[in-house]
Amino acid sequence: MKPAEFLRAADEHCRWIAEYFEHVRDLPVLPDIQPGELRNQMPSLAPEEGEPIEQIFADFRSVIGPALTLWNHPRFLAYFSISSTPPSILAELLIATLNVNAMLWKTSPAATELEEVTLGWIRQWLGLPDEYFGIIYDTASVGVLQALDAARLWICPECRSEGMRPGLTVYISEHTHSSSERAAIMLGFGQKNVRIIGVDAEFRMRADLLEDAIRRDLSDGKTPCCIVASIGSTSASAIDPVPAIADIADRYGIWLHVDAAYGGSAAIVPEMRHVLAGAERAHSFLLNPHKWLYVSIDCSVLYIRHPEVLRRAASLTPEYLRTKQDSDVVNYSEYGVQLGRRFRALKLWYVLRYYGRQGIIAMLRESIRLAQLFKSFVQADEDFELSAPVPFALVCFRHRSDDDFNRCLLEAVNASGKAFLSHTVLHGRFVLRCSIGNFQTNEADIRDVWELIRASAARLENEFAAQRQDGRGCAPVDGTETRQPFGRGA
Ligand SMILES: Cc1ncc(COP(=O)(O)O)c(C=O)c1O
Repeated sequence: MKPAEFLRAADEHCRWIAEYFEHVRDLPVLPDIQPGELRNQMPSLAPEEGEPIEQIFADFRSVIGPALTLWNHPRFLAYFSISSTPPSILAELLIATLNVNAMLWKTSPAATELEEVTLGWIRQWLGLPDEYFGIIYDTASVGVLQALDAARLWICPECRSEGMRPGLTVYISEHTHSSSERAAIMLGFGQKNVRIIGVDAEFRMRADLLEDAIRRDLSDGKTPCCIVASIGSTSASAIDPVPAIADIADRYGIWLHVDAAYGGSAAIVPEMRHVLAGAERAHSFLLNPHKWLYVSIDCSVLYIRHPEVLRRAASLTPEYLRTKQDSDVVNYSEYGVQLGRRFRALKLWYVLRYYGRQGIIAMLRESIRLAQLFKSFVQADEDFELSAPVPFALVCFRHRSDDDFNRCLLEAVNASGKAFLSHTVLHGRFVLRCSIGNFQTNEADIRDVWELIRASAARLENEFAAQRQDGRGCAPVDGTETRQPFGRGA
């Protein structure tokens, strides 16, 4: 591709991106598509000859677009709502252009040093200890794998050469993200050595039950190794009692990993700083800028108090990777399972600089305010109830009817294409989740979505008894299926 052709195509792509941000609200959040539908539209043979970029882009709009779930949509309120902001997108262009591999300082001095600088800035904003060493991974799932690996070597240095010592135990709660348990399984702790600690009525790990479990393990000859506490758990955004858990970790010499993948960013807001109480005592602390810090997927940060343990766990440097600067610099690939590393610090740097702390505080505050507004709608409506506290920007709620009704309500809302909510089960009951966090979500979105939910529930109330009698599933609610094609106007 010659520079002139690149420029033309880039211009067309960028115009499309700008228009996407302007009109994304008019597009369906969820695609109306059956499994295999996109695959069936694709040729089974790979292209023999190259094709014009205009044709590829046209097919992106007409074929790929309608099969996309739009995560960067202001009414994407499912899972944890996320944002890929324009400065992050621009940085991604540069990252791909430079194609830097940030494995060693020598292969990428700017990437390495920008990673140190940006993670230092976030550490300051969160009030975390200066001695924390930070590293960027792709996801929190990898971050917790690395943290647990470090915890294992911290407790059992000989494990590196001898292999796993039987009976090392890990403590999580019923609400800890599944990536922690999976990491323990993958590292050879054994699923039976993962203790799942009960939670209180507000879904927070119970410190008394944690201590009971540790005492029991000690008396059974086990070796307690790591506790994972959450600040913003996945289902209900609960905040575990980290100060009490840190006391227990100290008392028994156990590694404390704090998973603040979602909730950590909120602490940049001064009045939300309290959510990190006790986190400064953790051995490792995880935050996902790709969740609620306006950086595009993927970007996850692990801070660790004992980087030398992480390095001992992961480092194995063959001759061809040795450099003469090794003793003076950080070679990030020595601190994780990946050798090749993307230049993710650049998009973090772009976002932090473009918005600044005040801009980021304003966006976080707005999401928190909108969540409180949505919560007030739920509380004011006698047909609905709140299912969990709202410490961040996630509202868990349900219709006072039964689980089947709530399931149908979720399907009806999502089938409309106007919003995407997700679900969980809390206290044994099916619950809808409205997660606010996209940078474009505004008050009108939240009011519209609440009206959609109420209208859908009102219609379902009329239709539900008949549907159940007929044994039919949840039909999409009439009048909520006005969809526009993805490539609209582009
Ligand atoms: C609290 C929490 N921790 C960890 C994860 C895993 O995140 P990732 O997709 O970055 O692996 C999630 C995912 O939603 C989460 O909610």
